[in-house]
Amino acid sequence: MNKQINYGIIFKGKEVIYMLIPEREKAKIRSKNKVLTKEYKIDDELKELGLGKTYFIKTYGCQMNVHDSENIKAILEEMSFKEALVMEEADLILLNTCAIRENAHNKVFGMLGRIKHLKEERPNVIAGICGCMAQEEGVVSLILEKYKFLDLVFGTHNIHELPLILEKAINSKKMEVQVYSCEGDIIENIPAKRDSKYKAFVNIMYGCDKFCTYCIVPYTRGKQRSRNPKDIIREIEKLKEAGYKEVTLLGQNVNAYGKDLDINYDMSNLLTDVASTGISRIFFVTSHPWDFTDEMIEVISKYDNIMPYIHLPLQSGSNRILKLMGRRYTKESYLELFHKIKDKIKNVSVTTDIIVGFPGETDDDFNDTLDVVNECKYDSAFTFIFSPREGTPASKMKDDIPLEVKEKRLYKLNDIINKYALEANQKYMGKIVKVLLEGESSKGGLLMGYTDTMKLINVKASKDKVGEIVNVKITNVQSFSMDGEIVE
Ligand code: 5AD
Ligand code: SF4
Repeated sequence: MNKQINYGIIFKGKEVIYMLIPEREKAKIRSKNKVLTKEYKIDDELKELGLGKTYFIKTYGCQMNVHDSENIKAILEEMSFKEALVMEEADLILLNTCAIRENAHNKVFGMLGRIKHLKEERPNVIAGICGCMAQEEGVVSLILEKYKFLDLVFGTHNIHELPLILEKAINSKKMEVQVYSCEGDIIENIPAKRDSKYKAFVNIMYGCDKFCTYCIVPYTRGKQRSRNPKDIIREIEKLKEAGYKEVTLLGQNVNAYGKDLDINYDMSNLLTDVASTGISRIFFVTSHPWDFTDEMIEVISKYDNIMPYIHLPLQSGSNRILKLMGRRYTKESYLELFHKIKDKIKNVSVTTDIIVGFPGETDDDFNDTLDVVNECKYDSAFTFIFSPREGTPASKMKDDIPLEVKEKRLYKLNDIINKYALEANQKYMGKIVKVLLEGESSKGGLLMGYTDTMKLINVKASKDKVGEIVNVKITNVQSFSMDGEIVE
């Protein structure tokens, strides 16, 4: 592994015992090292480190981060820590952070203020940050300068080393900063403590090689590394045996799965093999329009247990902006793919991500985006104002559009998106759909779950139905959820 190691940076009372600086410029030159697959293991003597102590993890960001936190929780429990219900009572606090937009950063820094107070009251509390922000050089420097009360910082590439990092942080009373500037090997069999007993996230790959000009992920998560298909299938078979009904295959760009493997095996092969395990429901996120093949569409439409739900980020409908974003497709090729998906996959629901206010986006560019939205009539969409991420090419582009204009565009876009979301849901009125009941709904007395098209449904049903896939008749629809009742 190419690691840069700096020894013994000392400052006020605490010592960084060793530190690996994330280097943005070098991240683009991907290491040629062959990615190996290794097994997770924990030293026996670390298994009692957390006896009598509790932990609390606050997770920000995407499903990938949620799953990382599931791994971290299980590792901590192997070390005898128990989960605390609230942060204020925990002996160990970890923030698993997201770097995707400025507001994700701000939330974490706000939380660090609270943790500082907590540590003043209870100096023995161990607190640290991990995740994508920890992979950013600027963030690590700021922590070393302004957040010296923290005890540990580790990144996205070394979660499996948490037992050793934590032991050092606890025993040495020094700030332990261990962030790898370069991705390492794939570590199999890291345990996971999943919130749900019925649906599970399964990583199929790590990192991303696309380098869209606005995006921090290829730096924070490293180069693309696909897991071996046999390891993925084995994990899913075990989940199925344990009673899981649904898996969501996770990757930054799942359609490129397998491109970095020595074997001739791609996402359509993986989907076929996952479908053949017989697990009831299979979702996958996130797709990049560039790598979406006809074979994938065919496989999705062929297997009943691959759900007709595709998240297909558009980002912009303007060819000029798409080029500046480095997306490598055009409005026309996106629409062609979109219609192919709609034609070939029965009852498919398609959602998207859109960024407004990319540097230099004109009214005409924005109108091109609206044109695509009006044509695709998405089931729903996540919409964002462009947020410059330090070190990315887009952060250096001239951005002279006032925030006010960007906000107006976002509101206008959201109004249109919401109108189509409601229209899409209205088509479900009176229909019977299959719902995996997950647990209690925030609407009192009801259960909640999702359809195979990822629609949130509140259902009148008894609690013993949780974990079952049931037929539900839709009785009421809104833009973001629907209500229904079980029919036999
Ligand atoms: N600014 C705004 N939105 C962003 N996204 C990624 N990077 C940025 C950024 N710098 C959005 C994209 C992506 C989603 C996960 O977050 O739309 O698909
Ligand atoms: Fe997920 Fe990207 Fe945020 Fe990291 S930066 S948590 S990969 S969305």
